[in-house]
Amino acid sequence: MLRKKLIAGNWKMNKTPADGAALVAELVATVGKQTDVDVVVCPPFTALDAVAKVLDGSTVKLGAQNLHPEASGAFTGEVSAPMLRALFTTHAIIGHSERRSLFGETDAFINQKVLAALKNQLKPILCVGESLAEREAGTTLKVVQTQLEAGLQGVSKEQAAALVVAYEPVWAIGTGKVATTDQAQEVHAFIRGLLVKLFAEPVAQRVRILYGGSMKPANAPELLAQKDIDGGLIGGASLEARSFVELIRAAAAIK
Ligand code: PGA
Repeated sequence: MLRKKLIAGNWKMNKTPADGAALVAELVATVGKQTDVDVVVCPPFTALDAVAKVLDGSTVKLGAQNLHPEASGAFTGEVSAPMLRALFTTHAIIGHSERRSLFGETDAFINQKVLAALKNQLKPILCVGESLAEREAGTTLKVVQTQLEAGLQGVSKEQAAALVVAYEPVWAIGTGKVATTDQAQEVHAFIRGLLVKLFAEPVAQRVRILYGGSMKPANAPELLAQKDIDGGLIGGASLEARSFVELIRAAAAIK
């Protein structure tokens, strides 16, 4: 297979350091030596340190849910890429739809974060996706194109190899309404085509494009079997070891 599947857990604003450490202890015990699927957990900032300690020596990687583009300075309440690196973080979710809609993040700001992550050897998981109104208006592909192209401005071909994109239709996040496999594959193939234009074929074929939005053990096998769906960004189902492990196993079962 050209691209190894990637299953990433987005815990959002859930779990104390102790709860997070307990969850990843279960993951490490069951899938901690997994090598045929890449696994990333993204706890809140406050749990990164405790979770990193439990992950040490396992193949499970650590991600943040956000970062600030500047390295340091007067940005009360923010956390920078070098700070995350110091906690053994390797990935960072950037531009999640909740950041865009609840915290007013623009494509330009998200682009600065992507560039800061790459500069600091953090792999960005850049999230894109349309709202229900945009899907109903028939503008899904246009919205995704704008978010992707603006988010990746100034990213070089060499840097793009480290990139992960997550397609998350906003109407499917936390709603139990999952995109059909055809709806998802259509947008994933479209994103792949945009990546080819931006970075040329060999790099575009290496970038993982994750699906996110109510992915569960029951719907994952079909989604993950699609040609351009290279994994999942999992919210709700990543908060319990059992469902998250089932998703990792579903990804491992795809040959
Ligand atoms: P969900 O969240 O799996 O709970 O729908 C996905 C996400 O927001 O990344």
